[in-house]
Amino acid sequence: MLPFNIVGTGPGSWDLLTLKACQIITSSQIIIGSPRSIKTIEFLFQDSKTQPEIYFLQRNHENIPGLIRQRGQKKLSVLVSGDPGFYSLLGYLAQHFEAREIQVCPGISSIQAAAANLTMGWQNSLFFSVHGREIPKDISAIKTGFAQGKQIFVLLDSQKNPSCFADMLKQRNFPVKQSHFTLFYNLGYENQKIIHSTYSNLKSCIQEESLCLMLLSKGTII
Ligand SMILES: C[S@@+](CC[C@H](N)C(=O)[O-])C[C@H]1O[C@@H](n2cnc3c(N)ncnc32)[C@H](O)[C@@H]1O
Repeated sequence: MLPFNIVGTGPGSWDLLTLKACQIITSSQIIIGSPRSIKTIEFLFQDSKTQPEIYFLQRNHENIPGLIRQRGQKKLSVLVSGDPGFYSLLGYLAQHFEAREIQVCPGISSIQAAAANLTMGWQNSLFFSVHGREIPKDISAIKTGFAQGKQIFVLLDSQKNPSCFADMLKQRNFPVKQSHFTLFYNLGYENQKIIHSTYSNLKSCIQEESLCLMLLSKGTII
């Protein structure tokens, strides 16, 4: 059986898809993805006579392995935002399938898009995610990294806006008042917004219903 594909679709706008991702997607007969990922790739099938079978993912990840196993000889792609290897479905699917059954197509991560917007190198940064997960009780690695001058990227979600997340950091004795916050909303989309803030101003910077990535740094990056 052909391996199935896990394709990174980038931050979400069509022009940040890679050519390889487009080739794999247009040759797929079955596509599984969130409504957001499907929207990103819709344009690829606009003038096409053949349309793929599409399965929308909401929070029903547990259905994916079954769908993949039923694909028969059809070419199947699972779409994930950003890069598949960064806080994404690759880890989950790798628990259900052998490596030889999976082909990964890398994508541009939201981190890459954010750093590029600030003309910033990101090799010395630390990363963590509270997307769909709780902030860890022990954040000593982050505190140490920050004290050493590292920048810290954090993936947020709709339940944890930048202000409530910063409050949680404060409760864990993170020096929020010495921190500069850069908020990246809807990277790559027409309504992309990048906002610089201090801790005390964060509440006024919240954009509801937006994708958000946050960067903490000791001083302004730009
Ligand atoms: C499940 S994680 C997936 C990360 C993805 N694999 C990557 O490489 O960017 C989703 C989180 O990534 C961030 N994110 C993804 N796309 C974004 C965008 N276009 N603008 C801002 N943040 C984004 C948000 O923090 C969002 O909650």
